[in-house]
Amino acid sequence: MTVTIVGSQLGDEGKGGVVDVYGDAADVVARYQGGDNAGHTVVHDGEKYKLSLVPSGAVRDKVGVLGNGCVVNPETLFEEIDALRERGLEPDVRVAERAHVILPYHRALDGIEEEEKADLAAGTTKRGIGPTYEDKAGRRGVRIGDLLEPEVLRERLEYVVPQKKALAEEVFGKETGEAFDIDHLYETYREYGERLAEEGMTVDCGTFLQERIDAGDDVMLEGAQGTSIDIDHGIYPYVTSSNPTAGGAAVGTGLGPTVVGRGDVIGIVKAYLSRVGTGPLPTELGGVEGQTPGYDADEGADPEEEDLATYIRDEGGEYGTVTGRPRRVGWLDVPMLRHAARANGFTGLAINHVDVLAGLDEVKVGHSYEFDGEEIFTMPPTTEQWGRCEATLKTFDGWPAVDWAEVAEEGYDAIPENARTYLEYVSEELDAPIYAIGVGPGREETVVLENPYE
Ligand code: IMP
Repeated sequence: MTVTIVGSQLGDEGKGGVVDVYGDAADVVARYQGGDNAGHTVVHDGEKYKLSLVPSGAVRDKVGVLGNGCVVNPETLFEEIDALRERGLEPDVRVAERAHVILPYHRALDGIEEEEKADLAAGTTKRGIGPTYEDKAGRRGVRIGDLLEPEVLRERLEYVVPQKKALAEEVFGKETGEAFDIDHLYETYREYGERLAEEGMTVDCGTFLQERIDAGDDVMLEGAQGTSIDIDHGIYPYVTSSNPTAGGAAVGTGLGPTVVGRGDVIGIVKAYLSRVGTGPLPTELGGVEGQTPGYDADEGADPEEEDLATYIRDEGGEYGTVTGRPRRVGWLDVPMLRHAARANGFTGLAINHVDVLAGLDEVKVGHSYEFDGEEIFTMPPTTEQWGRCEATLKTFDGWPAVDWAEVAEEGYDAIPENARTYLEYVSEELDAPIYAIGVGPGREETVVLENPYE
């Protein structure tokens, strides 16, 4: 059977920790979208591993699969695999032949276009994600399978590279180098293809996963990023270029929606909100220059709000894993969660970082929005409309900091009462039971109420 893990907010909900806890029971962990824009830290046997592409399960002797919905930078892939090998691990990573390849010109163009877009920039991770998905949709992409067939690779590059070069040089007026040189790209990527073949890493993803399921294996489908930065269901254009929502798990692996739907779809919720990137954020506290629209660090926002934001940012370690950028923070946005619960059909929730809010007198949530004079309970369809929404806050009594490791051991009833009230409110609003509660960064610091594989 499958279990699908989906971020219900803006990414960085702590999916890695949940994948870690539940992934123990899985035999295969497959990613279905995104690329090396997804930073996650895995702690295994006291060692910390920072990964951005390799599925975290690969650190724990699971088969890690990058599905056809992923965009794969072979340079990052091999760097991460080599780094794991140097530390004594033997990760088993498979890559879908249908997955698209991030080439150096994609990275270069990601940077160039972000600069050009100014106010419309999504604040991307500059890993070339968007330009690679663009080429996929434009039917001029290079796929992992093409790296294994040199003449196909050459043909693809000869068609696409002159267009990319012209775009960079003639439209954007930039100088180009190796990243736009057909011969250089051909040699480098042909070699990556040889290594993929030598190490037997490529698979026909859907067939591979279905065979494992038929043989009785448990599969975890790991979404990266989150629902509100989904290209279809997120805050367009401040989104990533793939579908982190649960539908992406079928399309991005080649398993049927009925196969995915027979298993649980678990929504990962961070107990507050954090965001890397630009665009509106109705429940934001304070601001981050360069990301919060119209925010000027010298003037700042309301000092009390700024203090709260700094507290949450520091307690929660809200600095990007990939980029190190400070993240924007805010209260939990419940209309955003209702939208996610519907778009993904959550069957269970994992609520993380409940410990981060401990010690505050009051904890607030955005319960609904006031939008053009009306009260609404879910996100409106356009980001401009969302920008006009004002959050109507609901206040909860705060909960104390306690020994969270002990709480994790003792179980749900050991969670401070006010925190339980908060959690039960979220579960009721989303009409989904709580499966797990994260009360600290380590995987032991999780209160598990339900195991989806049992
Ligand atoms: P891209 O995915 O690099 O194209 O970036 C597009 C948007 O998605 C930007 O706002 C990024 O900050 C955001 N984003 C991409 N990956 C992540 C992630 O793993 N966590 C949180 N935000 C992300």
